[in-house]
Amino acid sequence: MDYMKMLQEKDLKYIWHPCSQMKDYENFPPIVIKKGYGAYLEDVNGKKYLDAISSWWVNLFGHSNKRINEALYRQASKLEHVIFANFSHEAAIELSERIVKITPEGLNKVFFGDNGSSAVEIALKLSFQYHQQTGKSKKTRFVALTDAYHGETIGALSVGGVDLYNKIYKPLLLDVIRSTGPDCYRCKYMKDRNTCSAECFEMIERDILDKHEEISAIIVEPLVQCAAGMKIYSPIYLKKLRQLCDKYDINLIADEIAVGFGRTGKMFACQHADISPDIMCLSKGLTAGYMPLSLTLMTDKIYDAFYDDYSTMKAFLHSHSYSGNPLGCAIAIETLNIFNDEKILDQIAEKSDYLMNRAKEQLLGIPYVGEYRQIGMIGAIELVCDKESKEPFESDKRVGYSIYKKALEKGVLLRPLGNVIYFMPPYIISNQDIDFMIQAAKDSINQCLA
Ligand SMILES: Cc1ncc(COP(=O)(O)O)c(C=O)c1O
Repeated sequence: MDYMKMLQEKDLKYIWHPCSQMKDYENFPPIVIKKGYGAYLEDVNGKKYLDAISSWWVNLFGHSNKRINEALYRQASKLEHVIFANFSHEAAIELSERIVKITPEGLNKVFFGDNGSSAVEIALKLSFQYHQQTGKSKKTRFVALTDAYHGETIGALSVGGVDLYNKIYKPLLLDVIRSTGPDCYRCKYMKDRNTCSAECFEMIERDILDKHEEISAIIVEPLVQCAAGMKIYSPIYLKKLRQLCDKYDINLIADEIAVGFGRTGKMFACQHADISPDIMCLSKGLTAGYMPLSLTLMTDKIYDAFYDDYSTMKAFLHSHSYSGNPLGCAIAIETLNIFNDEKILDQIAEKSDYLMNRAKEQLLGIPYVGEYRQIGMIGAIELVCDKESKEPFESDKRVGYSIYKKALEKGVLLRPLGNVIYFMPPYIISNQDIDFMIQAAKDSINQCLA
């Protein structure tokens, strides 16, 4: 039996993979990766795959990056972990100082978690407790948008709006106010996201008008609802949201877990709208794809509501064993160093132009491509049965899954979201590899839908 097959059998004997129907693996077992370098992964048989999705949107500077490897080694040789209650360490202090300097103004305090979902849980708990401790005990509910995705733990899932992930758990979830969010490809207002005034904002405005006294926070993925199929919307929506939250004393939580750290072309997506949220969640690119780490930032106003004598019991008694893990912090610091030293935002500007031009040239002629949309290093192809009516393929056809398998044969890791094929490559991808990625997507779409 070949080595790959032997490993696959063992894998399936013991491992339950995330976000998968394990029965699918009977016909399509997991690809066992041996190493990664640059934008590529290589399996145990030596086959290479271009990582067009940055291994679940986390990798920024390529796999096994020399600078990050060295930073990790330096930190591991010094201090791998220390309890973060009553103790601290240099890497967490440096990281927090630098993050506060580069995030939108007013976010002055940092709370550490160990993955994106925990950052969201922290944000929700902070907002709730803030209102409780400032005399607004009726403000207990959260508002979230249709198609939102904020993670898989119960609180994060509650604010999520993708049925695929949360339908079965509904009896367990928080009573969230679900408001219809922007849907620019199928805009009811017949507007264009690049020129509109976010007319669709009136829907959320209406929804909270008579409920604002009960609302603690509104949580959004700024500018792109990624898991919903890279749904890009206007920054004007965010500007309006900031004003609405100010008017009704509602916390604005910006979940920048997927879009932070340059993905949209600016360091943080909120900067496109020139707004500061009250609470911001960061993870994924924070450690350039190396370690689970997350940060929840907040304003002094929120922090101050918790600051008092111990006996008042106002403290935020939330913790994770790996809070402030030094290895994660050292990598996050090196990530910021690389952003500065290698002028990564300038590189993103150039590469995203190239991606946009080449993708439009190559893809828009395909009869099933309803739209190609892009912001920064996020590009998405919306597949439809019919361009005119924008009718989607039925989900049981699993169009995305067949394209995924076809692209893998060609040596490209795409992982579609329903009928949306997207590109979210590491920033170090070369123009030649951008061409290869687009060609593989094009050929896979044509071959699967012919
Ligand atoms: C916007 C957003 N929020 C939260 C999460 C959850 O992060 P994690 O998977 O690290 O729990 C994700 C993950 O994809 C995400 O895209």
